[in-house]
Amino acid sequence: MALNLTLRQIKVFESAARHLSYTRASEELHLSQPAVSMQIKQLEAVIGLSLFEQIGKKMHLTSAGREIFAYSQSIGHLLNEAEIVVEELKGMQSGRLAISVATTASHFATRLLADFSQRYAGVTISLDITNRASLRDQLENNEPDLVIMGQAPEGVDVTSDTFMENPLVVIAPANHPLTMQKDIPLKHFESEHFVVRETGSGTRSAIQRFFDRHGVSFHTGIETSSNETIKQAVEAGLGLGIVSIHTLELELETGRLEILDVEDFPIIRHWHIVQRTGKRLSPVALAFKQFVLEEAEQFIRLPAK
Ligand code: PGA
Repeated sequence: MALNLTLRQIKVFESAARHLSYTRASEELHLSQPAVSMQIKQLEAVIGLSLFEQIGKKMHLTSAGREIFAYSQSIGHLLNEAEIVVEELKGMQSGRLAISVATTASHFATRLLADFSQRYAGVTISLDITNRASLRDQLENNEPDLVIMGQAPEGVDVTSDTFMENPLVVIAPANHPLTMQKDIPLKHFESEHFVVRETGSGTRSAIQRFFDRHGVSFHTGIETSSNETIKQAVEAGLGLGIVSIHTLELELETGRLEILDVEDFPIIRHWHIVQRTGKRLSPVALAFKQFVLEEAEQFIRLPAK
């Protein structure tokens, strides 16, 4: 049996039941008292039961009234929620989103943004890709809405949320003799040269900290600001490399580079989404942040081992 009641009847009844008074309900809803009583009569007719009873001078809810009151409150809450969501969606039909990401994160971040921009087609997105040091400056100047980076910068008041692991691995060209070895001791690398990122890169400083902590000296050969150049140089035999696994999707798939099995590796770092503390995020920026926290992992494409 379908209850043929209207939202208007529910709304009038909810108010009258909350106040236990038709007069108060008519004031709250800016209706005449006969209009209130008519809506409630109609609702009682639909339900086939009385909702109020008069005992002495006082109005009470009947047991049917109490049941319908609980439902009408839930319906009211849901309608309020729907109203907020609609408002937020209206705010997301247009607008701008300024995102800055660390060079190393750009590999998955571009896919993330492509997916996000399909969901919010009216939003103009600007994407800046740069290293950790310049991301710090951008945050200091409050330029981007959100930043994706390896670790929150020091000396700037930021709020940061972690969203997935960022393992750093040692890479060698396919068929390099070390690819046959298991658990290569760290000490071995004192006699190797690495192709590395520039000073100012988060990956670079994490590598440096790692070797310092283990008391192993680390020799750099070529330095470059590009992960792509590192991979090409390693493939060409110019040295070994240490990069985030998230830069290696294609090379691992095609077998052009291999990850070495090294003692104490991978170096486990984490990706963070960072904003200036107290920065008021637009609905679009909030939606993007939520999207990154909940879905970023799906955009990593590494071949199964
Ligand atoms: P980067 O990124 O090495 O490209 O600077 C990683 C980080 O922010 O730590």
